[in-house]
Amino acid sequence: MMRGLLMALLLVGLPAGASELEARLALADVDRGRILFGQCRTCHYPQQFMGHNTGPNLSGIFGKVAGKQPGFEYYSARFKAAQFVWTPKMMYAWLENPMAIYPDSTMMSNGVPDAQDRADLIAFLMQATRRDSEN
Ligand code: HEC
Repeated sequence: MMRGLLMALLLVGLPAGASELEARLALADVDRGRILFGQCRTCHYPQQFMGHNTGPNLSGIFGKVAGKQPGFEYYSARFKAAQFVWTPKMMYAWLENPMAIYPDSTMMSNGVPDAQDRADLIAFLMQATRRDSEN
């Protein structure tokens, strides 16, 4: 409730150029993001030492080129050929409906349709996937 209000104020008062995602990240709830990551954790580990699962490891994912992690065998042709770098903004767009953007992806997930849920999840990932992070 309170956050909805803050959100509205922030969106109105934001300097030109700040994105919707930046506004949402400024209010993001990392603990909520950790809980939301539960739906990803069945396939992905955020910590490096855990390695790959049925999904690729997500340690240090921001800044990596998509679909190129050594040792992960189940990338789709689309991800193997991808040339983009994972940024919070890219992930925010993709996770809204992953199968809409890459229908032939091997990632069986409906994504995270709610915008603030996505921001909370990304805020958690920015923390949990920092290189050398063990949390
Ligand atoms: C059922 C297993 C599964 C679930 C659930 C799942 N993923 Fe994935 N994920 C995969 C697979 C498999 C790939 C490889 C996709 C491809 O190559 O098409 C992938 C790819 C990714 C990548 C790209 C990694 C890289 O190296 O480029 C990211 C980021 C990602 N997933 C994040 C998430 C997030 C966040 C969630 C939760 C909302 C999630 N995934 C849920 C299996 C899963």
